Amino acid sequence: MTKKKIISVVGARPNFMKVAPLHRAFQKFNDSIEHLIVHTGQHYDFSMSDAFFKDLEMPRPSYFLGVGSGTHAEQTAKIMIEFENVCKELKPDLVLVVGDVNSTVACTLTAVKLGIKVAHIESGLRSFDRSMPEEINRIVTDSICNYCFVTEQSGIDNLIHEGFDKERISFVGNTMIDSLIYEIEKAKNSQVRASLNLAPKEYVLVTLHRPTNVDEPERLEEFLRIFNHLSQFRKIVFPVHPRTRKNLKYFSLEKKVSEIEGLILLEPLGYIDFLSLMLDADFIMTDSGGIQEESTYLKIPCLTLRTSTERPVTIDIGTNILVEPEENKIINVINEIIKNPRKEGIIPKFWDGKASDRIVDKITGYLY
Ligand code: UD1
Repeated sequence: MTKKKIISVVGARPNFMKVAPLHRAFQKFNDSIEHLIVHTGQHYDFSMSDAFFKDLEMPRPSYFLGVGSGTHAEQTAKIMIEFENVCKELKPDLVLVVGDVNSTVACTLTAVKLGIKVAHIESGLRSFDRSMPEEINRIVTDSICNYCFVTEQSGIDNLIHEGFDKERISFVGNTMIDSLIYEIEKAKNSQVRASLNLAPKEYVLVTLHRPTNVDEPERLEEFLRIFNHLSQFRKIVFPVHPRTRKNLKYFSLEKKVSEIEGLILLEPLGYIDFLSLMLDADFIMTDSGGIQEESTYLKIPCLTLRTSTERPVTIDIGTNILVEPEENKIINVINEIIKNPRKEGIIPKFWDGKASDRIVDKITGYLY
């Protein structure tokens, strides 16, 4: 029997933890499947990329396309050109894409046009906000891929509503949670919190990188005032995304942010250290997609500083609270959460560490 060849695409930070457990699951079928990882290079800083390969025990990618940063058109186009060469050389039987970043849509378009089947992991999520680049990436990827693997019920509902054939859709759970479950013991042994002299629950963990939150100076200044307010009650740990770091510098806000008492600014952290800081945080404030899911699994309160979420299960049954990113609204919710008992959460269906096995099982069925 000739081995089937499968390429998984990674490009940006939130992709790595979704593909690592899939790679492990494919290894169980080593004699019938060859699983290769292609890294587009959308993220390239050590702290945004290499650190994750180490933490997640992923093999080096078979191909590194090295596309780097650029406008959306430039980045997407460069990925397509490079990935087309890889597909022509490797002739895969299936391409796996994850999430909603530019690498996801670029590689899907490329493969589908070469007649290669594509499976989308984390399919069907919708924020219904088309000003988010990720929403466009999700809609385009889903509409042209062959197989849709879904993490929560809303994903099925959205795809059915858009007219997708049920045969294309599989509710498999969340591969990001597979990684979390696999790595949690290592995170408990991390020394990162001790090295920052922080006691459990003494701090709030913050991440911010969405263009709508960090690309305008007024909005960034608003966040600095919010941090000032929060610092009366809790220490703040803020690993700063390169986009945010660049903008703090560009808008001359670096000094102001460094002067906020009790605010600890860090470089982006690796997977294990970030997970470790999540475990002991009093609560989390973020505009990330994945952190909404990880905090729900860990039952840690999360304030999502956005006008919409594509992951409604984290609000409906998890510990996530959506807060419109506006100064008074955020401050009010911070005051509430500091004083009052917290929302009890429930872990969503199939977020159990076995999503990758379910996906590999389905895929072997599709290929053989
Ligand atoms: C991308 C994803 C976003 C995801 C985020 C996680 C898209 C459209 N966006 O946003 O969905 O939540 O990754 O981090 O795909 N930069 C560096 N070093 C790096 C990477 C980026 O310095 O390794 C800087 C560059 O100045 C770059 C900017 O960050 O221009 C933005 O990077 P980009 O990949 O375009 O988008 P992200 O904001 O990281």
